[in-house]
Amino acid sequence: MVEDLRLDSLEGVGPVTTRKLSDAGVHNVMDLIVRGPVEIAEITGMEKDTAEKIVNKARQHLVETGLISKDFVTATEVYKRRQDIGKISTGTNCLDTLFDGGVETQALTEVYGEFGSGKTQFAHTLAVMVQKPKAEGGLDGGVLYIDTENTFRPERIVSIAQAHEMDPEKVLDRIIVARAYNSAHQTLILEEAGPVIEENNVKLIVVDSAVGLFRAEYLGRGTLSNRQQKLNHFVHMLSRIAETYNCAALATNQVMASPDVFFGDPTRPIGGNVVAHTSTYRIYFKKSGKKRIARMVDSPHHPEEEVIFGLGEAGVIDPEDTEKKVAKKPAKKLSKKEKESEPEPEIIVSSTELQMVEPTEDADSDDLMSLEE
Ligand SMILES: Nc1ncnc2c1ncn2[C@@H]1O[C@H](COP(=O)(O)OP(=O)(O)O)[C@@H](O)[C@H]1O
Ligand SMILES: [Mg+2]
Repeated sequence: MVEDLRLDSLEGVGPVTTRKLSDAGVHNVMDLIVRGPVEIAEITGMEKDTAEKIVNKARQHLVETGLISKDFVTATEVYKRRQDIGKISTGTNCLDTLFDGGVETQALTEVYGEFGSGKTQFAHTLAVMVQKPKAEGGLDGGVLYIDTENTFRPERIVSIAQAHEMDPEKVLDRIIVARAYNSAHQTLILEEAGPVIEENNVKLIVVDSAVGLFRAEYLGRGTLSNRQQKLNHFVHMLSRIAETYNCAALATNQVMASPDVFFGDPTRPIGGNVVAHTSTYRIYFKKSGKKRIARMVDSPHHPEEEVIFGLGEAGVIDPEDTEKKVAKKPAKKLSKKEKESEPEPEIIVSSTELQMVEPTEDADSDDLMSLEE
């Protein structure tokens, strides 16, 4: 561990407090900031005042060592801090355009969309791309992949790595996979993630899916606010980790695309909204035949726009690459006539159509807002 981050490097924190903290899963100074005083008091049984003092000291310490910014800073300093933001190329021109270069560190990016829209493929692709050197669009970093749906596939990592001319074995080695079995476990994994992030120079945290387990466990309206609170806690922790450790956080969220189900089901993706209020970027993925559409829904500085992408052996790909590959495969020779009559793939989706299936504020929204930090 970096010497500066040891708990006992804080003045007034001795072996007893260090022990108390690490028993509660708080292993370094960063963890103190990520968890915050209220939670530190709760999990250690410390007085709230004491916890506040320790967290303030931690903050001061990190400011002094230059790891985080001061409470009051000039815009120049904010600008400088933003210069540290890294971008992970998606390996495609189309999505890189949408993301203005790539998926950012110090931010939470939420990708939501229906089943099969490519969220997991996108996560796999980024898990490979982040490992590339900076000159090639990566951050030369490791990955923490929190898999809640058992959809992480090392085989996919191997093919994506090969497609990008990387050594698959090395790539696999730099992805730490944590399989979460229930929402409490998912939260615990994140709470304990600090040392893993540090030791493996993690630059990308994937949570695929962030909301699924919460949604499955807390069914019905009675438990709604409880679920929102827990989910809020998780999502805020995720975004604080991204900021503190200067890494990118990618959270996926499955939503229903069918308007029927959408409006008829009272347990509709409420989680989507919670994540929405916290994420820095929200991207909506939509199926359109074989193609996929990605739309930047919510961003402090990107225009709202959409691009078409494809899915292939290389993970997410540029749409023209699908065509190239299809064209290369001489599976069946078409006569000239057949060729002419071959229909173009359907890729026409209007923004209005996207708007329709996008999660809208619903009756539960008020509960959600009041739970915001
Ligand atoms: N090796 C592959 N080559 C081409 N396409 C693939 C491959 N693996 C998965 N896909 C595509 O990815 C889709 C599933 O995407 P996925 O990311 O799992 O969806 P989501 O996570 O949004 O539910 C499949 O329908 C298929 O079109
Ligand atoms: Mg998936």
